[in-house]
Amino acid sequence: MITKEDVEKLFSSQLAQIQNQELREKVIEAWVVGCKEGNWDSVEELQSMPFTLLTDTHGVNFIEHTIAVTDGALALAKCQMDTYKEIPYDINIDRLIAGGILHDVGKLVEIEKDGEGGFRKSRSGMCARHPISGAIQAAKVGLDQETVNTVACHAKEGDGRPQVIETILIHQADFATFNPLVLLNKSQLIQ
Ligand SMILES: [Fe+2]
Repeated sequence: MITKEDVEKLFSSQLAQIQNQELREKVIEAWVVGCKEGNWDSVEELQSMPFTLLTDTHGVNFIEHTIAVTDGALALAKCQMDTYKEIPYDINIDRLIAGGILHDVGKLVEIEKDGEGGFRKSRSGMCARHPISGAIQAAKVGLDQETVNTVACHAKEGDGRPQVIETILIHQADFATFNPLVLLNKSQLIQ
């Protein structure tokens, strides 16, 4: 069983930067509930799970991806905040970090162990992609609607839809980690 303490340890650096304690607790709870619903038994399993089944991740695991996206989105926010004389929109850093940690929480139920050491799409994953299942998980633990938007609209589900600024930043950080692998696997990444 994956505990609150396990989740706190996995994302300690990112969670420590969330100022609102209630928000931090709900982020942790969404992960604990997701791990339970997806039958994930240990941190090692999460660390061996690829972050996507859509392309070969070359060993980049689900936890590494979640951290890279959260830190990447944060860097995208900071470079605008530090550079613009006047930033035309407010970026909520708490929401950005919460959304980064949560953006793929739905993959805990979208992907399952195949019983042979590998991973496959679950029945839940066939019925709803992770932005939908993740948004449901986030809402279930009482997260606010704007944070739910970061989960629900971070991928193609968000195309052409209203988004909070944090969703846009998370989306860009997410695809900055996904697209290079897609091109690499198609021999289209110039190196
Ligand atoms: Fe992602």
